[in-house]
Amino acid sequence: MAPDFQKTIVGLLLTLSFLTYSFYLYSSLPVRDAVFTIDVDRGKAIWQQHNCTACHQVYGLGGYLGPDLTNEYSKRGPDIIKAMIRTGTKTMPAFNLTEEETSSLLSYLKHIDQTGIADPRSFKIKLDGTIDQE
Ligand code: HEC
Repeated sequence: MAPDFQKTIVGLLLTLSFLTYSFYLYSSLPVRDAVFTIDVDRGKAIWQQHNCTACHQVYGLGGYLGPDLTNEYSKRGPDIIKAMIRTGTKTMPAFNLTEEETSSLLSYLKHIDQTGIADPRSFKIKLDGTIDQE
């Protein structure tokens, strides 16, 4: 049995390395600055009300009938998204949203586009095990 003094030193070293590593991880999170406005919040509520997530993923989470829409805004642009919501396709239902609702929904899609990248194939794994999204 190691003396109590040695146990205390080992305990302190483990606690210190835990705190240092936690601080390092949390201070290097890939968080992006994107302003969350009331309009974005309304758009998110519309997204939830119409249950888009039943068929679409955001940041990779959600239903798998339709594609992930995290980066849809920069990939397709607002006009195509608007047309898609208004007319639908064989597999995507059309949604009868007002101009205002559509515009809020677009703000939400623009916001999520600015805050993350959905496709993990584009991530670079760094030596410390964290990822680089650019
Ligand atoms: C019942 C399932 C379902 C729901 C609910 C749904 N979608 Fe879709 N959506 C799809 C499918 C399936 C596609 C692919 C359609 C195709 O390519 O013909 C699609 C395609 C899209 C696209 C075009 C994606 C691309 O790049 O091709 C957009 C934008 C979109 N949906 C937005 C929405 C929004 C916004 C909502 C909620 C208001 C919603 N969808 C709700 C099934 C759904």
